Amino acid sequence: MKTIRIEPNFDSWRSKARELLSEAVRPEAILWEDGTSTADSLFDDLDSNASQNTTPPKGLRIPREFMNLAELVACHRASDRWGVLYKVAWRLTHGKERQLLALHIDSDLKRLEVWASAVRRDRHKMKAFVRFRKVSTTESGCEQFVAWFEPEHSIVELTAPFFAKRFASMEWSILTPWRCAHWNGKALQFSPGVSSREAPKEDELEDFWRSYYAHIFNPARLKLDAMQSEMPKKYWKNLPEAPLIVELTRKAAKRMSEMVEAPVSAKAHVSERFPSGVPNPEPQQTVIKPEDVLARADAIKLAELRQLGLQCRDCPLYDRATQVVFGEGPEDAEIMIVGEQPGDSEDLAGRPFVGPSGDLLDKVLSGIGIDRQAVYVTNTVKHFKWKREGKRRLHQTPKADEVHACRPWVLAEILKVKPKTLICLGATAAKALVRPDFAILRERGRVPDSELAYQVIVTVHPSYLLRMPRGEERELELARWISDLTLALKAP
Ligand code: URA
Repeated sequence: MKTIRIEPNFDSWRSKARELLSEAVRPEAILWEDGTSTADSLFDDLDSNASQNTTPPKGLRIPREFMNLAELVACHRASDRWGVLYKVAWRLTHGKERQLLALHIDSDLKRLEVWASAVRRDRHKMKAFVRFRKVSTTESGCEQFVAWFEPEHSIVELTAPFFAKRFASMEWSILTPWRCAHWNGKALQFSPGVSSREAPKEDELEDFWRSYYAHIFNPARLKLDAMQSEMPKKYWKNLPEAPLIVELTRKAAKRMSEMVEAPVSAKAHVSERFPSGVPNPEPQQTVIKPEDVLARADAIKLAELRQLGLQCRDCPLYDRATQVVFGEGPEDAEIMIVGEQPGDSEDLAGRPFVGPSGDLLDKVLSGIGIDRQAVYVTNTVKHFKWKREGKRRLHQTPKADEVHACRPWVLAEILKVKPKTLICLGATAAKALVRPDFAILRERGRVPDSELAYQVIVTVHPSYLLRMPRGEERELELARWISDLTLALKAP
């Protein structure tokens, strides 16, 4: 019996396996071990040459399909993977079992396929759940990001090119306990793993949750029933284990008023009263100026604010919308969700998020254990902006001055509800409430230092997901979205 010690990676196994196959060393005669190649290793002197030589020895052609499978299996942590891989390679070459790869009931092949599937799943999780956090900006102005992730298998090298392609213009590092990947905008480099103490603290629990959750989650079809049967809802909620119990440290209403004044200068409009629920009635009486909304917010109840909001005509959008769609939900809601503007269904129903985006939102909220009834749901802009296309009324993104005109209402809602967690869905909400130049795909997640709520989370709008074509990209985006929303379950 020969002990073959190899670096635990595909290249190392491949070069050794080639040598052993060419010397017709039978699988039963080999004991494979992970480790650094040592001097007493049988093929050490051939190592460097062999790893350069990618041409298989004559007569020992191994199908590409097998090598692809082997590359995945090599990432698995099972200690006997090298032996099974070599056995199958032996059977394909010396055993001349050319049809072996089609024999899915073969026990050796089955083991390889199970391992490969686990590695695929792990890579999928990594693609979906790595979230970068900005850690610094270089003197040349380049922003640097870091992410902490705990894969189950050795997938960092194999998966890092995905991130290099996707986040090509950033400088980033992905730290894991086993291996770290670094991208400087031009090339990938790898280094040994780091302890979790070196990872951004905030992510520790979150990553624990992510890996567990992603394990049972197939975001492709949002099979919530199946998910619930695999892991009852009550556990979903408990996994992050960080209940929202932290005291609010919120600044005064004055601060909010200052924010309203900040961007786009818009001249004061006059609001006019019309009875709620009646589409576009004639104006009757001037009631409130938008700049007064916040000043009065402290003194009035949410229900009164809503009544005033229903009467608003501070921008031209009221003219084509059926009605104002104000926010709804408990006045003491811990979570508040702000979307962009009502869509076609919301405009007709007079309630936020009741159309397709609302359906998706409801499913995911319920899936992660958040009861929509306990959430205050509203929009940045309260009238539906649309253009006609055939019989359909197509959504149009509100312009900056329309957002500006409506902003006092949503700020006043925040002031009244005082949510612990404020979730901005989409760029319009993020730009209105966080920063006018907020870059949603890059900065999504928890927003540092916002005074609007104890924690402010920004993520993409559900309509962004609904517009994406079916496929892996959409699955990944959906999983990321769920992961962002799950931040609402834990304090920072
Ligand atoms: N999109 C939004 O932003 N809000 C809604 O209420 C519906 C769709």
